[in-house]
Amino acid sequence: MTQPLLTVKSLKKHFPGKSGFWGNQGVVRAVDGVDLTVYPGETVSIVGESGCGKSTTGRCILRLLEPTEGEILFQGKDILKLNEEQMRTMRRNMQIVFQDPFASLNPRKTIGQILADPLIVHGIGTAAERKKQVEEMIEIVGLTKQHLDRYPHEFSGGQRQRIGIARALILKPKLVIADEPVSALDVSIQAQILNLMQDLQKEFQLTYLFISHDLSVVRHISDRVAVMYLGKVVEVADKKSLYENPVHPYTRALLSAVPVPDPEHKAERILLEGDLPSPANPPTGCTFHPRCPVCVEMCKREIPALRKKAAGHFVSCHLE
Ligand SMILES: Nc1ncnc2c1ncn2[C@@H]1O[C@H](COP(=O)(O)OP(=O)(O)O)[C@@H](O)[C@H]1O
Ligand SMILES: [Mg+2]
Repeated sequence: MTQPLLTVKSLKKHFPGKSGFWGNQGVVRAVDGVDLTVYPGETVSIVGESGCGKSTTGRCILRLLEPTEGEILFQGKDILKLNEEQMRTMRRNMQIVFQDPFASLNPRKTIGQILADPLIVHGIGTAAERKKQVEEMIEIVGLTKQHLDRYPHEFSGGQRQRIGIARALILKPKLVIADEPVSALDVSIQAQILNLMQDLQKEFQLTYLFISHDLSVVRHISDRVAVMYLGKVVEVADKKSLYENPVHPYTRALLSAVPVPDPEHKAERILLEGDLPSPANPPTGCTFHPRCPVCVEMCKREIPALRKKAAGHFVSCHLE
């Protein structure tokens, strides 16, 4: 069997809580025990409501944030054991595309400079070779050489995201973590960017960890989907099983709110009551229990484990 490209084991990231009159108010359990495996060439998506810990998970994997606990293996190697210099080298293989390409592109640099920077940082090529690579890359993402002398503000949202993607790909990484890459874009532009990402995946044999709060976007691009709730993965399955046979009550509720092309097959809408609880003070037992339509006594006391439901389909729910 192929080796995973990325394995995340029991990942936790706890931020210090607000300090108040009575002292420190504990910790914010932003990520609280995430397990995830990503195989070469596949697209695994992490979905869940805003605030459930998706971005924190992505940032910990790249060590843009230092995890509190857990293991992150990239090609079998524990990257949390790497020193700064080794991590810098490793980052050539792991790149990120951000949600807001405007905020993440330096407004004072031209697109040419923005795309050449990663090559310079990693000491790749001569100036002439870098120029050639940058010119090739801008065309690969559907822009032209003429765009290289311009500044980020001269571009539309969709074009800026093409530039964000070009910047992530210029080092020919193996893994790309895309954190809500189309959430800031108009719906009409979203499909173009998703199609571009799929074409690039084939062309460069990329592996994607795709982060989104939007189940309809995720359906388009994923091979497998992990559903997160309050810092934990509550269900993970291949796309077909997840969309056709969602098991966790939270996944069912999320899916029931997604518009489907054929209204006759639409599942009855399950309303999620209340807001996402605060990760500074998560509910006991199954953290979903206060909002769960099928909650029983045990759910309030015992934390459910992520258990195998079918081949490749794992769920953490006492009732399933
Ligand atoms: N630097 C931080 N300090 C304290 N809390 C944080 C920090 N970053 C994120 N959080 C909290 O962690 C939780 C998860 O955040 P995030 O990973 O951004 O969620 P998502 O990407 O799913 O919307 C949220 O409650 C958020 O407020
Ligand atoms: Mg986020």
